[in-house]
Amino acid sequence: MKLQVKAGDITEQEVDAIVVNVFEGVSQPEGATKSVNTAIKDIITSLIETGEVRGKSGELTLIHTQNSIKPKRVLVAGLGPKEKFNQDSIRSISGAIIRFLNAKKIKTYSTVLHGGGEGGIKTTVAARSIAEGTILGAYKFSEHKSKKQKQYIEQVTVVEMDNSKVKDIKRGIDEGVSIASSVSLARDMVNQPANYMTPSDLVDIATDICDGTDVELEVFDESRMQQLKMGALLGVAKGSVVPPKMIIMKYLGDAKNPDNNIGLIGKGITFDSGGISIKPSGGMAAMKGDMAGAASVISAMKAITELKPKINVTAIAAATENMPGGNAQKPGDVVVAMDGTTIEVDNTDAEGRLVLSDAVSYGVQLGLKRIVDVATLTGAIEIALGKVTTGAFSNNDELVSQVIDAGTQAGEKIWELPTFDEYRELYKSDVADLKNVGGRQAGSITGAMFIGEFAKDVAWVHLDIASTSTSPKTSGMITRGATGIPVRTLIYLVLALSKG
Ligand code: BES
Ligand code: ZN
Ligand code: MN
Repeated sequence: MKLQVKAGDITEQEVDAIVVNVFEGVSQPEGATKSVNTAIKDIITSLIETGEVRGKSGELTLIHTQNSIKPKRVLVAGLGPKEKFNQDSIRSISGAIIRFLNAKKIKTYSTVLHGGGEGGIKTTVAARSIAEGTILGAYKFSEHKSKKQKQYIEQVTVVEMDNSKVKDIKRGIDEGVSIASSVSLARDMVNQPANYMTPSDLVDIATDICDGTDVELEVFDESRMQQLKMGALLGVAKGSVVPPKMIIMKYLGDAKNPDNNIGLIGKGITFDSGGISIKPSGGMAAMKGDMAGAASVISAMKAITELKPKINVTAIAAATENMPGGNAQKPGDVVVAMDGTTIEVDNTDAEGRLVLSDAVSYGVQLGLKRIVDVATLTGAIEIALGKVTTGAFSNNDELVSQVIDAGTQAGEKIWELPTFDEYRELYKSDVADLKNVGGRQAGSITGAMFIGEFAKDVAWVHLDIASTSTSPKTSGMITRGATGIPVRTLIYLVLALSKG
């Protein structure tokens, strides 16, 4: 599918459909919608009068133009109330539009720049949001289907009357395409079954991203992990026959200022059976997605290398399976993490914090000044926040507010939960420095704080995406299955930090 911009009059496009919009409660459409309405003999205003078009958010009304103008169809998209309208409304409606028109089996459509006029959204931002929403709303994963789901739409054009805006629209579209491709890649990785997405497969994807760029790639195998004394990660990996990998990608956007840096660290459990503390069989297949954190940080690097922000970004993915077996670690085992901390493995299913403890220690050793770790860490986060919101945990107010702001821009909801010292009692061990579970209370908090112990004094944020990395339904720009959350938050965060 090709996304482009063109200067001109939208009513005169040689396309199968044109897309205009109305805000909720408006009786007289403005801008391009107004001129389309006039050209098709006021059909839109009469539909507003009869209440068929109300401008409700997500409402889509298809009008056949019967040769009154060149395009055969006009799609009127509802933008919802103007007070609630923002860049994320543009993404959602754009996602809904492409699925609607694809279902009509049409090939080409042109759209006005939603939000660019009355909506008051900056031109580049509106264009970027259309690109993100359109590409991600059209996302499908049918690699393993003999009969592929068909993508009919071949070309989407943003048509703009005002010639002076075309350059900014083009820039917005290019950024949006780059960002959305990163998210699609993350969705693919998470949707892919565990037999197609092993730690080595993650390495191959990271290699593809780095090839032909200045991004430096390092991959640690088991023996390198042993040299570095990554006992917590290796303890998890012991039960599996597939070799673990630690993937390190270094982007130097501000090489002269090495301290202007951020580390993005992802949990990469390519299948979480629970290990010896084995999970119930119902729903276990969903644990192919337990590498969503790693997928997010690796794919965010793709857009980062393309958008070239002035900041140094290191992505670290800690990848292994968590399996039972004759060589698997056992509940009660004690492992020694890279930083020397001894950990009692009370439950082998709390493996994410184990692999991340060594990945975070390694990041601290690299001299990272800020760390954001991303993990499908706890089932408890879904109890706390449902499937709407990602949980954030931090030792640094500034960094966590920057992460939450980036999430707001991205339309990915994030809410901070506390990390009070009192919770540390819950994961003290009788036999070692720490134990890897904190009991029934505050499960997401103790999991997060366990990881935070290894960040030491470095500014650190943990994002628990166990409930938000997948969605049971398609809606707006989100499609059923992997969501690609929080890839766009990470990209927007890095872009914002790079601007100081
Ligand atoms: N990968 C799971 C968390 C998870 C649950 C992700 C549901 C996605 C959907 C994690 O490794 C895990 O097993 N966590 C345990 C921790 C417990 C043993 C302290 C959990 O949440 O039950
Ligand atoms: Zn897990
Ligand atoms: Mn687990």
